[in-house]
Amino acid sequence: MSIQNRWHERYKTADIPWDTGRPDFNLIDMVTKRPIPGCRTLEVGCGTGDNAIWLARHSFRVTGSDLSEIAIQKAGDKASDAGVECRFVVADFLRDKISGAPFGLLFDRGCFHSFRSDEQRNRFVDNAAFHLEEDGLWLSIIGSADDAPRDHGPPRHTAGEIVNAVEPHFEILSLHSSHFESNRTTPPGAWVCLMRKRAKKRGASLETGTK
Ligand SMILES: C[S@@+](CC[C@H](N)C(=O)[O-])C[C@H]1O[C@@H](n2cnc3c(N)ncnc32)[C@H](O)[C@@H]1O
Repeated sequence: MSIQNRWHERYKTADIPWDTGRPDFNLIDMVTKRPIPGCRTLEVGCGTGDNAIWLARHSFRVTGSDLSEIAIQKAGDKASDAGVECRFVVADFLRDKISGAPFGLLFDRGCFHSFRSDEQRNRFVDNAAFHLEEDGLWLSIIGSADDAPRDHGPPRHTAGEIVNAVEPHFEILSLHSSHFESNRTTPPGAWVCLMRKRAKKRGASLETGTK
């Protein structure tokens, strides 16, 4: 079964434990406490849209994208029920460019972490950088390898794996240990990683300045 069909099947059979029906508290904390001001935002792997809708209600102009047509259909229905303006598109972020770039903020919860190979993670990171304006932010919520090994639940990544994948294009502003918004009694552990796109020009002029 292709990866696309696997995700499609999970939405079709409602095997979607990550879908709590609420925005993730880690997103709310970061946006409200840092704070991150409203801007044009791309959510990658937005699922049924609870985080995108929360962002749209808080001054962000949001495009949500996902591989799954079912998820995108549900996200659109939720947004119109809520009377919130939000654009949702079906797209494969390992391959597709999404109109509306450059964005000021890219958000993903549990999408980046689903890619197992370095090659796929690198493609995702390259595309994240492509879609962001200079100095644009990427907030990613990623399953943590500090959780005990288990045979279900989100993928588990070390901080080292995250840093290796993102560093060529992103400066890490904060990386802290948390857990996913969850309906389980023991929520899965998560990394909350806030990154800023590296400004190539600034790097170049600093190098010049040291000569
Ligand atoms: C664990 S779910 C999280 C969904 C949503 N972010 C949430 O928190 O409810 C991961 C999502 O990433 C989407 N996804 C997986 N691979 C993708 C890709 N290559 N491009 C876009 N979306 C993808 C899946 O369809 C799924 O909706």
